[in-house]
Amino acid sequence: MAEFQPLVFSGVQPTGNLHLGNYLGAIRKFVALQAEHDCIYCVVDLHAITAQLVHDDMRSQTRSIAAAFIASGIDPKEHIVFNQSAVPQHAELAWIFNCVARIGWMERMTQFKDKAGGKNAEQVSLGLLAYPSLMAADILVYRATHVPVGDDQKQHLELARDIAQKFNIDFMEHIRREGSGVDIMVGDEPVHAYFPMVEPLIGGPAPRVMSLRDGTKKMSKSDASDLSRINLLDDADTVSKKVRKAKTDPDALPSETDGLKGRPEAENLVGIYAALSDKTKEDVLREFGGQQFSVFKPALVELAVHVLSPISEEMRRLLDDTTHLDAILRDGGERARARAEKTMDQVRDIVGFLR
Ligand code: TYM
Repeated sequence: MAEFQPLVFSGVQPTGNLHLGNYLGAIRKFVALQAEHDCIYCVVDLHAITAQLVHDDMRSQTRSIAAAFIASGIDPKEHIVFNQSAVPQHAELAWIFNCVARIGWMERMTQFKDKAGGKNAEQVSLGLLAYPSLMAADILVYRATHVPVGDDQKQHLELARDIAQKFNIDFMEHIRREGSGVDIMVGDEPVHAYFPMVEPLIGGPAPRVMSLRDGTKKMSKSDASDLSRINLLDDADTVSKKVRKAKTDPDALPSETDGLKGRPEAENLVGIYAALSDKTKEDVLREFGGQQFSVFKPALVELAVHVLSPISEEMRRLLDDTTHLDAILRDGGERARARAEKTMDQVRDIVGFLR
């Protein structure tokens, strides 16, 4: 049975400062995947206007995310780094997906409900409702197979699978006629598919990094308190202050992961330490089990500064003279556009538009 060519795709929105959650949940994984896979990484500027239409600094935010990708170790020559609006095929496929997906699917998305719940319907854009359809198009316009993301994107990726599956079924005869499909297995079923079933890559010790002020809330760009997150551009003193002030409980660290149950703040800090050092939580607790936070926190500061400071230094250097960065994005955009156009050329035929 034929297979889709493995291809990794992921995106990050150019809104607000990148934080440790974005780095550990996504960017650090992007870097690791490069060795074995063909990868496409995108700054999703079209997504950035869904929640807030007018931005004063979209260009600088876009460059800042691209700089973070490169400073973290993504190789833009071997792989592709670009911004979404440079490839209009994303929006073209998203329109077709808007007609494949059902409104009910979109209304069930937790992130949409959180932002738009009930009476807010007059306040949020139609784009915010359709957001997951654009996200599916981002991935599927390259027929990408693997998507590294943090845990908060899981539901959106399930929806991308639903859209791919419905497109494959609705257009099955057309796909056969055009000869552009691939025979795959979906569960135990052989299916003739044009779009692959994307696999989310979510694992690791920190799939959901939590706020430093409240271990039950996600670390987020939009949290009013800057103490709740470590930003990639924070200097060593700031990182140290934020970790020292991070909420904890009075007990020592346990020696086994079972002992983290019901201790969300401890679990979060141990997960962060593990992800930053490429270890498991078990490894970390073997080292620090029985120790107080007064010992663990300084070790975490040292590790975080050791990992993050070369990245923030390189980001600053790249952002100092944007000519190089803009050239990288332009080149990435051209290469992405060529690949996306190959898909759209076939999709237009499958849908049956007169050419
Ligand atoms: P965005 O820009 O909100 O976040 C970028 C990435 O960071 C991850 N992330 C986290 N991971 C762990 N802990 C956290 N506290 C945390 N906060 C954020 C996110 O899961 C994400 O991987 N819809 C996406 C962008 C997108 C996309 C795509 C992703 C658009 N098209 C196609 C993958 C494929 C978003 O808003 O991510």
